[in-house]
Amino acid sequence: MEIVDFDKVINRTNTNSYKWDKYPAGVLPLWVADMDFEVSRPIKKALADLVDFGVIGYARIPDQLEEVFVQRMEEKHNWKIQKDWLVWLPGMIPGLYAASGCVSDQHAAVMTSSPVYRPFLDAGSMTNRSLVDIPFIRNNNRWEMDFDSMEANITSEVKMYMLCNPHNPNGRVFSKEELQKLTDFCIRHNLILCSDEIHCDLIMDPSHKHISAASLNKEIENQSITLLSPSKTFNIAGLGCTVAIIPNEKIRKNFSAFRYGLAPMPTDFANVAALAAYRDSEYWHIQLLEYLRGNHEYLLKEINQIKGLKMEPLEATYLAWISHEDLEMPDFVALLEKNGVGVQDSSVFGGKEYFRLNFATPRANLVEAIKRIKIAVSQVPNS
Ligand SMILES: Cc1ncc(COP(=O)(O)O)c(C=O)c1O
Repeated sequence: MEIVDFDKVINRTNTNSYKWDKYPAGVLPLWVADMDFEVSRPIKKALADLVDFGVIGYARIPDQLEEVFVQRMEEKHNWKIQKDWLVWLPGMIPGLYAASGCVSDQHAAVMTSSPVYRPFLDAGSMTNRSLVDIPFIRNNNRWEMDFDSMEANITSEVKMYMLCNPHNPNGRVFSKEELQKLTDFCIRHNLILCSDEIHCDLIMDPSHKHISAASLNKEIENQSITLLSPSKTFNIAGLGCTVAIIPNEKIRKNFSAFRYGLAPMPTDFANVAALAAYRDSEYWHIQLLEYLRGNHEYLLKEINQIKGLKMEPLEATYLAWISHEDLEMPDFVALLEKNGVGVQDSSVFGGKEYFRLNFATPRANLVEAIKRIKIAVSQVPNS
């Protein structure tokens, strides 16, 4: 078996990388969610074979990709789905927008909970739906959905709840009890549950297990849209390959009709890479998880030794959610950037006094980032 060297530092500057070209030279970019690691050998080979073949026409979804995906959902996530429930797209964001847009009533509203991955907050308004944001609450040091407030703020116009599970940016893997409560809520109020589960194979704390919300029972399955992708787990975000699982035929038709003309089918590059990822790259994924868990442990220990910063262990994702509340410095992210660390301010996600740091990078970069964060904190007045 190939041993993957995740410590290898790859120079990504001037490679048209969205992540690395954002900041001036010298700033370590630890923001957008792609990883600074090479993809698996099977993915490279699949892409190279396609280049060698040389004819790049319109593509259909390979039967084997659908078969492998269906089988994987059952084996890994204990959900028996069918091939004809699948709708393929070139990215998750078109999926979120199509989900919001496919709600039939023009005056419909979409409910979600901030802080959350930005397109959740934008998808509604961009598709002429209004947004009902019921922010997360902190309970016993963990982020939880505020079911009392959700219940108090539901109206007949709300037609959908948008869930991010595992959660970006708070890192939670919602428990069976929480998902049960949420799906009961959706069923009681006749809401479609749109569940973005892109981070489901990036579990940091192995005592937690991802549960697909729609798999809980037949009723919720029948009013659900679940969005998945190999892009985060196998680091192929640049190729764009997403699949929506939509068991209900009417919802599936509405979804497909809404996205028609807006989002094309994924390219064959995306398809062959997705197949090589799901079918042939599990050895790489296993080693990735081990490496990321090591980075997580290192970061957690270091951050919590810095006065004024606080990080809680993540249940999933490689996106640390770090509180700088105690520093009492609103522009702390700008100060970090001045000191050579590029992270995302929580305001991007509809939150405050946190920043999000992507630690899917060689350990050496993380060690350097910690040095720079300490210098930045030492520059905070009265720190
Ligand atoms: C929760 C979530 N959904 C969707 C996406 C977008 O995924 P992609 O662009 O790979 O389709 C991201 C990327 O960070 C994400 O974190």
